[in-house]
This record gives sequence, C-alpha cells and structure tokens, in this order.
Amino acid sequence: MMVPVGSADGLSGKSKVAGVMGWPVDHSLSPRLHGYWLQRYGIDGAYVPLAVAPTRVEQAIRGLSALGFAGANVTVPHKVAVLEFMDEVSSEAMRIGAVNTIMVRDDGSLYGTNTDGFGFMESIRAGSTWRPGMDAAVVLGAGGAARAVVAALVDVGVSEIRLANRSREKAEALAAHLGDPVQVVEWRDRSAALAKTGLLVNTTVLGMVHQPPLEIVLDDLPVNAVVVDIVYRPLVTPILQAAVDKGCQTVEGLGMLLHQARPAFNAWFGVDPEVTAELRGRIIDSLDEA
Ligand code: ATR
Repeated sequence: MMVPVGSADGLSGKSKVAGVMGWPVDHSLSPRLHGYWLQRYGIDGAYVPLAVAPTRVEQAIRGLSALGFAGANVTVPHKVAVLEFMDEVSSEAMRIGAVNTIMVRDDGSLYGTNTDGFGFMESIRAGSTWRPGMDAAVVLGAGGAARAVVAALVDVGVSEIRLANRSREKAEALAAHLGDPVQVVEWRDRSAALAKTGLLVNTTVLGMVHQPPLEIVLDDLPVNAVVVDIVYRPLVTPILQAAVDKGCQTVEGLGMLLHQARPAFNAWFGVDPEVTAELRGRIIDSLDEA
C-alpha cells in the first residue's frame, strides 16, 4: 500500500506540523526526507511543501505560529529575507546571514537558525576520514552555500582556507566577514592553490546539470586529500569522478542535504534521526523522478 509522502501513517488532531517554504518549492527534497523519518519513527506528524511567493514571506512567517506549526525550513529564495522576521537568531545564522530552519517556541516567538554548516561537517565526518588538522582547505565559490561551508571550517579550527571565486570581490567580502584563516586566491589560480591541501570543496554551481563544467586540474592535490562537492545533481560530479580516479576520498553533496535536516527534525519531532543507506536510496530515487 502506498503511504502518503510527508506524513506518518495516520494523523491525529494532535499532529505536529512543519514544512518547507520556497518559491518554487516543488523540487524540494525535504518533504520526502522528513516524511521518510516520520514514518520510520512512527511519529504523529506531517511535513509539507509551502509555496510562498516572495511578496508574501512576512505573512507566511507570521502565519506559522498562528497555525500552530512546530516550525519550518526555508529554502531558495527566502533564506535571507526571513531573517528580519525572527524574534531571535542563532549565532550560526547571524554569521552566515541566512536562516534555513525556524522553530516556533511555546510562546509563539520565532527562533531562526542555520544548519547548513552542521550538515556539511557531519557529511564529511560520516563519509570520510578527514578531520580538522594542520592542512589547508580550498573552497571554490563565495555564494550562500560557501558562507555556511567556510564558517563551519573556521569553527572547527582549520587554520588556512584558500577561497577562490569568479567574482573576487565576493570572496573578499566573505574573507573580511569570517576572519583571518580565510585567504582569497585568484579564480584563475585555483588549480595551483591545491598544493599541500587536505580538503577541496566545490560550492559553485559548476558541474551541476544544465551548468558549465568545473574546470580544475587536480595534479597538485595531495592524494590523501578529501574532495567534497555540494552539487548533488548528478550525484557523482565530474570533479568527484576525477578525484576518485586520482585515488582521493570523496564526499557527495547529497550527504550535506541529508545531515542538515537532522537538527530541525529533532527540534520539531523529538528524535535525532539517522541518515541510513536506505534513506539515501529513497532520496536518490526521488532525484531521478524530479
Ligand atoms: P548558492 O547560494 O547555492 O551558493 P549562489 O549564491 O548563486 O548560490 O552562488 C553561486 C556560486 O557559483 C558563486 O560563487 C558564483 O560565482 P560568482 O560569485 O562569481 O557569481 C559561482 N558561479 C556560478 N556560475 C559560475 C561560472 N560560470 N563560473 C564560475 N563560477 C560560477
């Protein structure tokens, strides 16, 4: 029997409700992800897609507590816009300048946080032997995803983060915001910047389906380095394949998506859910359908 995606098997009048706000929101994988966990843990709850037009963000946010929602995820293009409507914002969300998770507190006030950095770090911990050490890291890109990744790397104590972005001024702004460990390198020097690094992270859209390829030569990358791509369509991007061919460990972008959802699910539904091979398989199946 087909069980509806995004809900436990049978809702009561006491069901806890959460959702994801985006525009458009129909490609979001979050309803499948949270829906899987709700079923797996037999929780009386639901997680629904919330298509919120940019002009109605404030109304939607105010509606969360009015409707008795436990909270919501926030995705493109609202992650920055919702900040001003929060009653309290976590230090992570402040540093990243964006909210991806909202919790509605018992008094109806709104707490905004950002779990993207957590998801990034947990996906590396779970998927590789990389641990923060003396080696430098190279991060490509300076958009929203890069802010979360670089902040997380600074927080775990990576002493040197070489940041390369096509538009240098965006990398400069991020470096100024996140401090000393971040050093800007020229986009054209990205291949040479790989010497003596332990970690390479692509946060640009390059290599994603319908986007240009990421042009980079891995010759100078040490063979014990770990390569992470936050792009997950396709699952194995050309740079990940090149890293595998070279003998490096790799971490797929899907891991960050799966792990960033854990703290939110725990806050709303009271279980720290597990990222399993079965869940990964289910999400990959829905990637094929989307
Ligand atoms: P996200 O929030 O997912 O990080 P974003 O803020 O739009 O998305 O950032 C996209 C990143 O991909 C940026 O670093 C962007 O570089 P610019 O800051 O120079 O725009 C990078 N990017 C997109 N297209 C690119 C291209 N053709 N060549 C190089 N970098 C590109």
